[in-house]
Amino acid sequence: MSLKNAPAASLAAFREDVWAHFRANRREMPWRDVDDPYAVLVSEVMLQQTQVARVLPAYERWLEAFPDVRSLSAAPLPAVLECWQGLGYNRRALGLKRSADQLVARGGGVVPDDFDALRALPGVGPVTAAAVLNYAFRIPTPFIETNVRAVYIDRFFPTADLVPDRALRPIVEETWDRDDPRGWGYALMDMGVAIKRAGQDPSRRSSSHRRQSAFEGSRRQARARLLRAVLGESGRASRTYADATGLPVERCDELLDELLREGFLCLEQGRWSISG
Ligand code: ADE
Repeated sequence: MSLKNAPAASLAAFREDVWAHFRANRREMPWRDVDDPYAVLVSEVMLQQTQVARVLPAYERWLEAFPDVRSLSAAPLPAVLECWQGLGYNRRALGLKRSADQLVARGGGVVPDDFDALRALPGVGPVTAAAVLNYAFRIPTPFIETNVRAVYIDRFFPTADLVPDRALRPIVEETWDRDDPRGWGYALMDMGVAIKRAGQDPSRRSSSHRRQSAFEGSRRQARARLLRAVLGESGRASRTYADATGLPVERCDELLDELLREGFLCLEQGRWSISG
């Protein structure tokens, strides 16, 4: 179905169904109905690639340690990475830390209510920027991610395969609730999760669908182990970390160099430590 042949009544009925589902099934989460854009940004970056159950304790821990942009900017990187452990994809912690640094240096420590300014922050993609605008600032900003895809593909493309986002976008924009963008976003998240739990995940029929690659034995796992090892004990030579992680020395060197280039680590006289 395209917007052209979706009758207005069917769009209105769809909206009503999403809202009705939300009224009956809304999930409470500590980052919902929160106006603080920093807290919302933190939660959305955590939720990018990590499930709600694992984000819950990390979110509380993080806000306790770094309650605002300034405290995050003032914190040393090792403490920031330590606080992130358990969430995976450590690059996101580095992105948040660098975002805080930029916001303090250029923006008076204020999280902007502007899409392009949010997008310009490290680690903030279009979905995270839009989520912050909808949830913290209540500025209606349609976005498409896996839960949104699940809801719209299920309803408007019940049998199609390889549905491109460009087919969804006009319908997503037309139906986005301009009066309550915050509630609408939560409602879509909750309905998407409910649809996925109930049976086949319709977002698999998106042309953007990617299977998650295995963690076991991956480069990502090796990087995470190395960073953990340096966090646990810094100031050692590569050999020590190769032993600690069980990685072959050459591979260990290559990954340490990569972590260095990305700004996680520094190297002085052959000894590794966390940057900052
Ligand atoms: N509530 C607010 N943001 C969310 C997200 N990214 N995923 C699930 N629920 C949410």
